[in-house]
Amino acid sequence: MNSRMEAFTHRVGGLAYGGDYNPEQWDPAVWREDVRLMREAGVNTATLGVFAWASLEPEPGKYEFGWMDEVMDLLHAGGISVNLATPTAAPPVWLTHLHPEVFPIMADGQPFGFGNRLQYDPSSPIYREYAAGITTKLAERYSFHPALAMWHISNEYGPTAYNEASSVNFRRWLQRKYGDLGSLNEAWTTRFWGQIYTDWEQIEVPNIPRTWMNPARRLDFKRFTSDALLECYIAERDIVRSFRDDVPVVTNFMRFYRNADYWKWAPEEDAVALDIYPNPLESDSHVSAAFQYDLFRSLKGGQPWLLMEQSSSAVSQWKVNVVKEPGRMRLGSLQAVSRAADSVLFFQWRASRGGHERFHSAMLPHSGADSRTFREIVDLGREVKALAPVAGSTAQAEIAILFDWNGWWGLEETFGLPRNDFSYVESVMRNYTPLWKAHYPVDVVSTASSLAPYKVLLIPNAYLIDDDGVARITEFVRAGGTVIMSFFSGVVDEFNRVRPDGYPGAFRELIGAKIDEYWAARPDEVFNVEFGDGRTATATWWRDDIHLETGTALATYRDGILKDRAAVVANRYGSGRVVYFATLLDEESFDTTLLQAVESAGAAKPFDGVPAHVECAVRRNDDHEFVFLLNHDAEVSTTVTLSAGGTDLLSGRTVSGDIELGPLDAVVIQRPARPAE
Ligand code: GAL
Repeated sequence: MNSRMEAFTHRVGGLAYGGDYNPEQWDPAVWREDVRLMREAGVNTATLGVFAWASLEPEPGKYEFGWMDEVMDLLHAGGISVNLATPTAAPPVWLTHLHPEVFPIMADGQPFGFGNRLQYDPSSPIYREYAAGITTKLAERYSFHPALAMWHISNEYGPTAYNEASSVNFRRWLQRKYGDLGSLNEAWTTRFWGQIYTDWEQIEVPNIPRTWMNPARRLDFKRFTSDALLECYIAERDIVRSFRDDVPVVTNFMRFYRNADYWKWAPEEDAVALDIYPNPLESDSHVSAAFQYDLFRSLKGGQPWLLMEQSSSAVSQWKVNVVKEPGRMRLGSLQAVSRAADSVLFFQWRASRGGHERFHSAMLPHSGADSRTFREIVDLGREVKALAPVAGSTAQAEIAILFDWNGWWGLEETFGLPRNDFSYVESVMRNYTPLWKAHYPVDVVSTASSLAPYKVLLIPNAYLIDDDGVARITEFVRAGGTVIMSFFSGVVDEFNRVRPDGYPGAFRELIGAKIDEYWAARPDEVFNVEFGDGRTATATWWRDDIHLETGTALATYRDGILKDRAAVVANRYGSGRVVYFATLLDEESFDTTLLQAVESAGAAKPFDGVPAHVECAVRRNDDHEFVFLLNHDAEVSTTVTLSAGGTDLLSGRTVSGDIELGPLDAVVIQRPARPAE
């Protein structure tokens, strides 16, 4: 943790608890009730001002800070720290009315228009000028207000814009990247379809982004869009820092968000922060949440992160929005903390009466303090307070999974592939889920991460990997690591050009085989597969026409034109080992093979024998470890036997090795630091 975050943790006395607070929607009498109820609920942090630009600057250059002064003072008097947002995610109507060119032009060629939020082109110099203006005013006024504990820059950076200003900025970005047009033409393979550029001015954003489009241009546009948004963040961050630089500065990210490369953003923040709304209708939404939490812990190399937004109960953005049944909010919050979140924050404190999100749940619902939700919020506040000792602790893993935005874009955004219906997220989750079920701790890595701490690296459908990443992965295996890779990995370079000398150009030696052709399966094709040990499996969706070199077949096809050829390959390389899936196996066979490879790599298996519905995770600091056991089953009680007991921070009770968990129940056992379970 950096010193700014340490100071924040110290200030809130452990974990942050609270949420978005929008007092501009309410009269002053309500503010007083808010502070009273916040105190009752144990709230120590309020995120103020997220969409308040129009209330702070109702006309250009005319500011109304009186209400915010009063709210800051009230919160401070109530002992509640403020996470102060720059309001730049919602430009006021006067701005877009004066300068309609600020509206982002959307993928369909139409301007976004007013009435939602995020109505800005991140490359617009006018937007940036006005955003800098309001940010400067806020920083001038509140940098030294005693309530200020953190800066929250804008909100969920997002828009992809196809404006003229974006083209100008895109050209600037390309000039910085390529230096001269010759290199760009080479990288983009512009001789194909005669697309050679002779002047920078000829290059535009891929406006009307058809699927038939130069794939390197599309890819660079994705990279550029992430960077253009990041420029907006950095500009505002630097303004607030110029007034005072001991307060942490963050922004909030979204779950599986494709338009911003979080690996590039994370180093620019004091902590990464996540907004997440697991859908209670999806039975495995807590597993994908666990992956997100592992990703967020990994983005800054194992530092605790911030759960910036979640819901207390139902949301309002989907077709059917079901409530979180009693106990689910608590369990979901503890799950985030178990994977190194140092906060439990919500959108939002008080439910809005009008506006698009009038039916979105809140800490304080429409039905007021005498409600199931508020009672659960008060109870949770007490527990979050009791979890103060876990703040700052983190987790380590021996297994890493590659999650890379460039690979994601290459696979899903550039088209013209043997199949154009890949889902990168599905593929990542297919690899992550068996590890989660078996309670293996997992870190998430990028192509630039150090792989030295790991025994096993999973590489799901990594179609595009840059040369550096390839070198790092190759070295990892040479030095003794185990790689588990799935098909269509290592195919193209960072410019989306097929790597030469047979597929998969980057990893032919690693997998010990050459692939002649990629065979997309027909919709109803199912192939029978048999493993060396006699296990049988089925394969669908994809087959590599693979020719073994140094590799050996772990499993072969029993039928079809590829009968007797390899479906799963194992290869030794240097002191390491690679297991390569050349097809899509049925889930059970895939999971078994993956877990066998993990086990033979010698990865420690904590919590062996604990059923999958009891999620197990451990956070550690120098003195203690904190064992989280979370029963996701709403009906079944389960007993878990640990090798050593400790104190359950939630109940305050001393517990022995045998721990009884009721339905949806949880324990957080603090015990002295010791070797893994
Ligand atoms: C987030 C957003 C919040 C609120 C919430 C609803 O994406 O930052 O302002 O809209 O979703 O779930």
